[in-house]
Amino acid sequence: MSVEGKVALVTGASQGIGRGIALRLAQDGFDVALADLDFQEDKGLAVAQEIHDLGRKAIFVVADVSSRADVFAAVDQAADSLGGFDVLVNNAGIAQVKPFLEITEEELDKIFKINVNSVVWGVQAAAAKFAELGHGGKIVSAASIAAIKGFPILGAYSATKFAVRGLIQAAAQELAPLGITVNGYAPGIVGTGMWDLIDAELSKINGKPIGQNLKENVDSIALGRIETPEDVAKVASFLAGPDSDYVTGQVLLVDGGMLYN
Ligand code: NAI
Repeated sequence: MSVEGKVALVTGASQGIGRGIALRLAQDGFDVALADLDFQEDKGLAVAQEIHDLGRKAIFVVADVSSRADVFAAVDQAADSLGGFDVLVNNAGIAQVKPFLEITEEELDKIFKINVNSVVWGVQAAAAKFAELGHGGKIVSAASIAAIKGFPILGAYSATKFAVRGLIQAAAQELAPLGITVNGYAPGIVGTGMWDLIDAELSKINGKPIGQNLKENVDSIALGRIETPEDVAKVASFLAGPDSDYVTGQVLLVDGGMLYN
């Protein structure tokens, strides 16, 4: 079964893993709506152009995924502009690097709103749109190795990703009767802006030179190299496409053998 002309919305798609997933889904045959924050519009439009160049339709939508209204509006815009709605990829997320005893109320609220509330709003908005269109669909969300193991200095981040894994398992069971599958991908260390930030913040805390924390973590990857957005996109493509029709409630590790090394 082909995905030719089906419609996917990818959040946090202006750069990094989201961009990689959006491009991969376009190569698979999806038309793609890209959502990101307003200051990321230029980058998002450049990704849309790359998708046009692949011969697929693409739009960029400004949306803050921590806002329920924005997420519902983005799903509406994707469906109206691209003529359908079949897949949502809840990819947008942030990291926070902070010793556990120093996490503030404001920081905790912020990271939960962006990493966790966004998934709830996304599942609700996608399920409502699938129902309106009279068919099922697929929802894929960004988890992490930090959804399976708590990492020091990434306590709040780990908590949000554990929460995402719980939401995936619960939503998968509730939405299965509606023909909706709900899954996630759990990357290890992907070479994106997020890891530049984590490395820089860890340096401030432990005094190691910039790049050293990243290098030490990469040394623990069994496959011996840092992960690329394309590595993650291959798994997201599987979860968004027909080959995963009998898979739901799963968080697939795509970490180069890091977590259990
Ligand atoms: P990134 O920082 O390179 O890109 C994230 C994108 O999300 C950016 O374009 C940003 O503008 C957007 N974004 C942030 N807050 C947003 C909001 N409130 N509304 C809409 N868009 C927003 O990050 P990366 O590495 O591409 O991460 C993507 C996802 O993968 C995140 O959920 C992250 O937690 C997860 N992940 C990343 C890993 C890594 O090593 N980079 C490892 C495991 C999971």
